[in-house]
Amino acid sequence: VAAAKAAAAACNDLESLAAAIAAFEGCPLKSQGAKQAVFSRGVSDAQLMIIGEGPGADEDAQGQPFVGRAGKLLDRMLKAAGLEERVFITNTVFWRPPGNRTPTPQEQATCAPFVERAIALVKPKMLLLAGGASAKAMLKRDEGILTMRGRWFEWVSEDQSLELPAMPTLHPAFLLRTPAQKKKAWQDLLTLTERLDRPDRP
Ligand code: URA
Repeated sequence: VAAAKAAAAACNDLESLAAAIAAFEGCPLKSQGAKQAVFSRGVSDAQLMIIGEGPGADEDAQGQPFVGRAGKLLDRMLKAAGLEERVFITNTVFWRPPGNRTPTPQEQATCAPFVERAIALVKPKMLLLAGGASAKAMLKRDEGILTMRGRWFEWVSEDQSLELPAMPTLHPAFLLRTPAQKKKAWQDLLTLTERLDRPDRP
């Protein structure tokens, strides 16, 4: 983690951060079959940052997050909410876990300084945490996603210099398996969009 912190701290823009992640040798996932590092897609000054769990097979092949079936569903939801041009999308880990298993807390902790640096550089107004593995890691809470979803939490950076509202929601891959739950995720996205569009009060 110290190596990741030092590497992340040295990056003053997203291009150098992407390069630092690709060159980083400290995450064990890198040598467990991943084809490449998968960092981000979206706009560099996005109002909303979406943080998923980790790359799957399609992301590993294409080098971008959320480009498979779950990503297509996510994109449809973002478009319907009018958010598709306003998001930056990344994950808690940057290499595909073998067999698409959930990344371990240690793997997430190793990548966390890069995620945090991305937040500091993009400066979003809020975070949307897709799925329990993302919500637990980012918020350091051990509640199930079904109780956390749709609620506002405060994300705080490790050095406590940054604070942002963060909302956990159901993972789009879960929604593909359980379409009846889509309504809940859609409600979460509407609640979030409403806050995003609320004019800042002095
Ligand atoms: N699932 C995730 O959590 N992230 C991706 O990038 C793709 C699928």
